[in-house]
Amino acid sequence: MNVIEIKELTKYYYIGRKKVVIGLENVSFSVEEGEIYGILGPNGSGKTTCLKLLLGILYPTSGEISILGKNQFDIEMKKNVGFLPENPYYYDYLTGPELLKFYGKLFEIPDKTVNERIEKLLYLVKLHEVKKLALRHYSKGMLERIGLAASLINDPKILILDEPTTGLDPIGCIETRDLLIQLKMEGKTILLSSHFLSEVERVCDRIAIFHRGYLLTTGGLDELIKKYNADGLEDLFVKTIQEFDRKGEKK
Ligand SMILES: Nc1ncnc2c1ncn2[C@@H]1O[C@H](COP(=O)(O)OP(=O)(O)OP(=O)(O)O)[C@@H](O)[C@H]1O
Ligand SMILES: [Mg+2]
Repeated sequence: MNVIEIKELTKYYYIGRKKVVIGLENVSFSVEEGEIYGILGPNGSGKTTCLKLLLGILYPTSGEISILGKNQFDIEMKKNVGFLPENPYYYDYLTGPELLKFYGKLFEIPDKTVNERIEKLLYLVKLHEVKKLALRHYSKGMLERIGLAASLINDPKILILDEPTTGLDPIGCIETRDLLIQLKMEGKTILLSSHFLSEVERVCDRIAIFHRGYLLTTGGLDELIKKYNADGLEDLFVKTIQEFDRKGEKK
């Protein structure tokens, strides 16, 4: 079953009156229940634009989005979605538990449930020993981890993560990867964006490669490597992008 469906999605940004920047151009793909789907692409390829459109933070120029059978603005549906933004901004005088409580209130989760979840999530992201520390004293990696915990506060069915390992050291990356696999085993569907190819290679069931707002290709990693006669993900990534640039048009 597809829990996310995107059809012919286009987003143009207008700068001034005339200048148009392509954020996303005619992109279609779907994400199946229980899988980890990775959006890959160089800087400025449209990854964040795509995720923000899915969350209803941006309005599409054209195209359709369906999440759990509803459109992207449906409030009830949003109770089942968690989101980790690319550059989160937090109230930095709050402690970790206070921040999670604040997010819990936004979802109107009862106090007892939220307190139980906070305990569990702080353990999960290894911040249970710094409960009294204000976020302004957190390291980059700690901020990324509290963000991940915040995205899980509503126990979502679908988790959308924009570059979940930016700012993490190699150990942090491995821990996050293991955490994502654990969440998948709990039945969650995960859509993430990344340009860390090795991370994507290890954790994603299927990938999509974006470039200049276009979706160049999507599928299982092995299937794509075979299709493009590539020597691993890095080679696949470079090949598809170079091929697109050579043709100067959508494949
Ligand atoms: N608010 C905006 N106004 C104008 N152009 C924008 C805006 N947001 C994004 N863009 C442009 O849309 C394109 C896609 O940007 P987007 O942020 O989606 O890329 P990305 O793949 O997430 O990049 P990164 O890997 O650097 O995070 C870029 O050319 C960017 O400059
Ligand atoms: Mg981005």
